[in-house]
Amino acid sequence: MAKIVYGFGSSHGPLLSTPPEKWDLRAADDRLSLRHPYRSKIYTFPELVEARRGEKDFVQDSSLEVRQERHARNQKALDRLAAKLEQVNPDIVVVVGDDQHEWFFDDVQPSFTVYCGKDVVNTKIDQERMKTKSPGIALAMSASQPPEDQTYPVPQSLAEWIIEQAILDEFDVAASMKQRANEKGVIGIGHAVGFIYRRILKDKPVPVVPILLNTYFPPNQPTAKRCYEFGQSIGRAIASWGEDKRVAICASGGISHFVIDEDFDRRMLTAMQNRDTAAIFAEPHSMFRSGTSETKNWITVAGILAATDLRMNLIDYVPACRSEGGTGCGMAFASWE
Ligand SMILES: [Fe+2]
Repeated sequence: MAKIVYGFGSSHGPLLSTPPEKWDLRAADDRLSLRHPYRSKIYTFPELVEARRGEKDFVQDSSLEVRQERHARNQKALDRLAAKLEQVNPDIVVVVGDDQHEWFFDDVQPSFTVYCGKDVVNTKIDQERMKTKSPGIALAMSASQPPEDQTYPVPQSLAEWIIEQAILDEFDVAASMKQRANEKGVIGIGHAVGFIYRRILKDKPVPVVPILLNTYFPPNQPTAKRCYEFGQSIGRAIASWGEDKRVAICASGGISHFVIDEDFDRRMLTAMQNRDTAAIFAEPHSMFRSGTSETKNWITVAGILAATDLRMNLIDYVPACRSEGGTGCGMAFASWE
């Protein structure tokens, strides 16, 4: 029988791969943006600065000195996760991430997708596409995309087993049996899986089951409760899969961004550490917007691991602040051991 031997969660935001002195490139984007979701409202940047006055000294928090300290902590935590995964040496990694208009677009946008093709390609950076990105994003693209195409095997029988269990558990999950393609060829796996393979697995072709949620885009984002229950279904599938394999589970993304909400982050991380589902489910749906919605990738993983004896250990929580409005990313790194 398969066994879940390890779990881990890692933020994957571009700031992790951007030198601190270049974080201003993203801060410049923030200042131009007219839509900053924060708690129950949406703010322009000047409104956000005004609304958060008195909350924390974000000018100090985004100073170069503080950024350098936080960047160093982020790298240390990522290195620690990479070393731990190398030591655990799982046969398979199940990565729960989100699709951010990478494979799925307005023509069809599934709430839950399990990829079950025979392999999956992380394509090299498309130079044309890179030119369409803002400089702050373009700079960090190599963190999730390799210099040359990388192919990772997919354990199809486990992926299909997860889908079958989901259907029995009344989740009408989408099955992606073939990597999406356009006129240029296959569309590479998205950043949520790509970052984990590049930064944590160092492009080692460990078999992967990519599970993609639509956390980001209205109108069909699943609720936190639904994500947790979907995770429980995945956990049941892995535990009952007949192959003798050691499986690791990964939550990719989060926590709050692009407006950092430290209170929310600590509430969610504490709730996951304490297996406090009541606290997770009590969080209003409107809190999970923009990048913060990726917290649902973690909640799904908490569901997968719920029936195991693995316990979440927070390696670090790093509010990587880049502007006077408290924008950036609440970076979290955890392992379940
Ligand atoms: Fe993301």
